Amino acid sequence: MSIVGGSVQAEAKLPVPLGPESWEPEGEPDPLIRHDQGLIGAPVSRLDGALKVTGAARFAADVQMEGMVYASLAFSTIAKGRLATLDTSAAEGAPGVVLVMTHRNAPRMKAAPLFLTSGKAAAGDDRPVMQDDRVHWNGQPIALVLAGTQEQADDARSLIRATYEIEEATTAFEKAKSHARPGSFGGDLRNEVGDAEAALAAALYRVDLTYLTPYQNHNAIEPHAATLAWDGDELIVHDCTQGVTHMAWSLADIFGLEEEQVHVTAPFVGGAFGSKTLWQHHVLAAAASRLARRPVRIALSREGVYRVVGGRTATEQRVAIGAQADGHFHSLIHTGTVAMTRHNNVPEPFILPARRLYAADSVKLDVQVADLDMLANTFMRAPGEAVGSFALECAIDELSERIGIDPIELRIRNEPDKDPTSGRPFSSRHLVEALRLGAERFGWDNRDPRPGARREGEWLIGMGCASATYPYQRFPGGAARITLSKDGHATVEIAAHEMGMGTATVQTQVTAERLGLPLDQVTLAYGNSSYPGVVLAGGSQQTASIGGAVLAAHRELVSELLKLAGSDSPLAGLEPNEVGGTDGGLCKLDEPERRESYASILARAQRDEVSVEASAPPPVETTEWSMHSFGAQFCEVRVNAFTGETRVSRFLGSFDCGRILNAKLAASQFRGGIIMGLGLALMEETQFDERKGRVMNPSLAEYHIPVHMDVPEIDLIWTDIPDPHAPMGAHGIGEIGITGVGAAVANAIYNATGTRVRELPITLDKLLAAWA
Ligand code: MOS
Repeated sequence: MSIVGGSVQAEAKLPVPLGPESWEPEGEPDPLIRHDQGLIGAPVSRLDGALKVTGAARFAADVQMEGMVYASLAFSTIAKGRLATLDTSAAEGAPGVVLVMTHRNAPRMKAAPLFLTSGKAAAGDDRPVMQDDRVHWNGQPIALVLAGTQEQADDARSLIRATYEIEEATTAFEKAKSHARPGSFGGDLRNEVGDAEAALAAALYRVDLTYLTPYQNHNAIEPHAATLAWDGDELIVHDCTQGVTHMAWSLADIFGLEEEQVHVTAPFVGGAFGSKTLWQHHVLAAAASRLARRPVRIALSREGVYRVVGGRTATEQRVAIGAQADGHFHSLIHTGTVAMTRHNNVPEPFILPARRLYAADSVKLDVQVADLDMLANTFMRAPGEAVGSFALECAIDELSERIGIDPIELRIRNEPDKDPTSGRPFSSRHLVEALRLGAERFGWDNRDPRPGARREGEWLIGMGCASATYPYQRFPGGAARITLSKDGHATVEIAAHEMGMGTATVQTQVTAERLGLPLDQVTLAYGNSSYPGVVLAGGSQQTASIGGAVLAAHRELVSELLKLAGSDSPLAGLEPNEVGGTDGGLCKLDEPERRESYASILARAQRDEVSVEASAPPPVETTEWSMHSFGAQFCEVRVNAFTGETRVSRFLGSFDCGRILNAKLAASQFRGGIIMGLGLALMEETQFDERKGRVMNPSLAEYHIPVHMDVPEIDLIWTDIPDPHAPMGAHGIGEIGITGVGAAVANAIYNATGTRVRELPITLDKLLAAWA
């Protein structure tokens, strides 16, 4: 293939066999996992890149509507109680104001359907939205103003005055912990194999440690926004969301409509990381739009995002490992407590890495939940794995020093031959290769295992590593429509999402490869709830979900084309599994001269187009095999011996995520995850005032995320070994990048300084306190 001026022309001359194609139990791998095709794996630049850098891409808050008004939200300043008075008179009289909505005039609405409670439920919190005078968290919307401009709306909102009857709230984690309950995340968060406590007590070497991770918030470049309008009983929503179908179904449920009466589009999403589901601002904007009979734009300020959209919750984790002299684990214990509310269902499942990473004779895993009066927390990039791998992979490092075994070697000695808790075979696991290849490339041999041994002037230098893991998932509901027109152009319609990760580009490559078309003859149409499929851009599952749906639709398409080809075609009499897509048509796999172009088939059949729709098979592969992405993270830090300032000087991510579908965009995904992991390690922390339950740093000035100066060159390698049980052989790569990074940094800081910090973020004050 060649890339000329951003336009990619693939030389996809080899026929891609259509079948047998099943990657599922008893079936054959998807033929697209093969390496010898032109487009799969190619470093194609983003097809939507030019639109984005020229500002032509229209995001949710760029959409203009006739007669549109702007929304601004007033937030509560107490954590629990009721509104005693709510004076909106000044706001109502302010310039440009069209409507002030409070619980007194808001329409009656059903509670939002909580995520995971049904297939298309989208809400992060199921508490009523402005239906009464109750306050449930500090920052809850208590009024919404609509006005002619954003400035008028914000100004009027500032004139609203509330007083409260305050009730005693639980806002301190320590206090809530005394009433902890078992956590559940689509199933139990407990595992018990053997007697892990007894095995720990009897072990020759052991660690038994506590790690803390703070509240965190997502900070997508694009703050949450929606532009929406009612057309009679139809609701039109331009949103930034990870689930257009979920949004349409859920808004319909809240407003008592049919799903088809809500139309959600999201052609571009400026980052999401788990946060762009359904929150109160959507419901309030739609309700206000109905009351005012005007289109509404609601664009949350950065502070607004912190008040209305949940983040990652705090955790306190115990990791205890008992080992014998050769490093073999007798006992692996990972338990602890997280802060949460009774109104959501994301108990930060930090035990997930321990479920699968290591073979241990006995295992005990458990997540307890402490209920607080706060905004519901939610999914944040690799929920569970991001912070769970910090604790687990630091503990491995601490144990390795105690036994005197290199930490990479210790990991390899405990490599399981099957999933240690489910007993299922791994579909594809090459973590040891990732560790070895990474160690070699990073120069791990140059690491001095003695802490504090390497110093250059004021700077202490150290290296650390950690394993990374995140599951392969494919949620039920994938479906796609392919339309092939007589000029040989294919359009795939699927209710999927492009949030900056490259989905539109990668899936265009995949479709072009399946059909044997050049890239510019394929259009991927996505981000619209009217398209087929329930395809969440979450859980790193979208690639597999789209892949499974397009694979199924392609099979339908080829059957249809062979029927249309009829008896006069060179393809006459052939079965779908005898042909493949190549050069803009179909050919017999073992007799490539028997071919006919798509255009010719449609012309002879006197058809302008052929269109098929198909559903992906149910995700049975994940019940047959233990399916995960893996990786190894390597970090070098320089820590200032006087100030405690930590600088990450080198970083390498070595991944094993099945077949990589686009080398350039995959590298960006890995790099983005690692950068977010550097933030988790060194700076990210939501300052939650435990007395008032209020977030005190809701801005990028006070909530620190990495900037360019904080990020070194990030080196990336991957095994590129296809998983025969996944569509295209590919695993998700969106979330694994952040996993393991916190531990790799912490382990490097320990190697540099001899100081072990078990509480994130590792800020210089914690190092200085240890040195004092
Ligand atoms: Mo991700 S936290 O599933 O968007």
